Amino acid sequence: MTKIPNRIYLTEDEMPTRYYNLRADMTDKPAPLLNPATGQPVSLDDLKPIFCEALARQELDDDTPYVDIPEPIRDFYKKYRPSPLCRAYSLEKYLDTPAKIYYKFEGNNTSGSHKLNSAVAQVYYAKEEGISHLTTETGAGQWGTALAEACAHFGIDLSVYMVKCSYEQKPFRKAIMETFNSRVIPSPSETTAVGRQILADHPGTTGSLGCAIAEAVEEATSSNNSRYVLGSVLNQVVLHQSIIGLECEKAFAKIDDYPDTVIGCAGGGSNLGGLIAPFMRDKLQGKYNPDILAVEPASCPSMTRGKYAYDFCDTGEITPLAKMYTLGAGYIPAASHAGGLRFHGMSPIVSKLYDDGFLRAKSYKQTDIFEAAVLFARLETILPAPESAHAIKGAIDEALACKESGEAKTILFGLTGTGYFDMTAYAAYTNQTMTDYLPTDAELAEALDRLPVVPGQD
Ligand SMILES: Cc1ncc(COP(=O)(O)O)c(C=O)c1O
Repeated sequence: MTKIPNRIYLTEDEMPTRYYNLRADMTDKPAPLLNPATGQPVSLDDLKPIFCEALARQELDDDTPYVDIPEPIRDFYKKYRPSPLCRAYSLEKYLDTPAKIYYKFEGNNTSGSHKLNSAVAQVYYAKEEGISHLTTETGAGQWGTALAEACAHFGIDLSVYMVKCSYEQKPFRKAIMETFNSRVIPSPSETTAVGRQILADHPGTTGSLGCAIAEAVEEATSSNNSRYVLGSVLNQVVLHQSIIGLECEKAFAKIDDYPDTVIGCAGGGSNLGGLIAPFMRDKLQGKYNPDILAVEPASCPSMTRGKYAYDFCDTGEITPLAKMYTLGAGYIPAASHAGGLRFHGMSPIVSKLYDDGFLRAKSYKQTDIFEAAVLFARLETILPAPESAHAIKGAIDEALACKESGEAKTILFGLTGTGYFDMTAYAAYTNQTMTDYLPTDAELAEALDRLPVVPGQD
């Protein structure tokens, strides 16, 4: 039998030309976004002041299964895609497992993560509609970097509200965004009314994605010819990220294999939703039954300890209401080194699939995921982002379960990015100064008690 190569590459011509919309194959669709003022499903007109029209349409489209990827987006993708599907031979050997471990490596581009896949698409559609200015939030800094690169390419101005703890931990992330000509503001800030309010209510807060979203939306909706773009959670972002899973599907076909288990880290759910897209499609269509696992931080456990309910996507309570697994928009997760997973909610698509039992979720403490990250770095020579290390830890545990059971399962996980800007975190792990924070039930209950009351919803 020929040995499976360490890296399975598709050619440029084999890169998918269409995104796949998972919602089309869901019999029970994710609940619609609601207008918080009326409690009614949002319309295109409600969304148009926030998002550009093409993206607003993608957001609302539950039915079209495949969406053509415009040529300028594909041309940009070709600068860094197709991304390799890699076999973790050294990790398998170390674990002494019969499992075959594969990872889809999305850190192989200048922004360092999968975030560029949606950034390019969102900036392209905005440019097509003549938008000249965009605003966004960033947690770990990966999304902000990706968007800064895409905006520089298409010639659009960008303001990035960066969660304050990441801003302080990762000064070079800010420097990259500024190199690409973007403005970076630590959030919460004095720049917006909502930022000033959050600072008054929570003096000394290190911020959260929810706060940063609120500030970015306020700047977009109060400026001329400006729109807000979000790097995760939304249906449109999950759609763009489907390129990850679609490439995996083609690469597995080349080696005549198919994953038994698919694992992704879950912050707002975009890489997970994209990675699992074609495999979940097969599951929904009854063709195959892969086991699908979402991994989240124990410090921000929206799926494993949150509630499936309508909530705001932001702390300022100005976005539409999304039905999702949430810890409450008022919940500010403890500072952690996986900034990109510090979001109180979860993609409505992923949430619905989880609620309907199509995927599992588990959470890990940050010291455990750093142990996995360091092991992976030493064996596979890629220094993973702390966010991605959640999926690594999930894969290691699945592979160890295979060792127990003797099953030679094919495990696929998403290696969403590299951690070269997370060296403060790696140093804290190595120096043994890293701590774990697990929210108490009382803390979680307090934020969940403040969920918005929506007529007709329990
Ligand atoms: C490297 C990396 N992986 C994963 C995530 C989580 O985001 P999502 O759940 O949208 O994929 C982030 C978010 O910033 C990230 O930077």
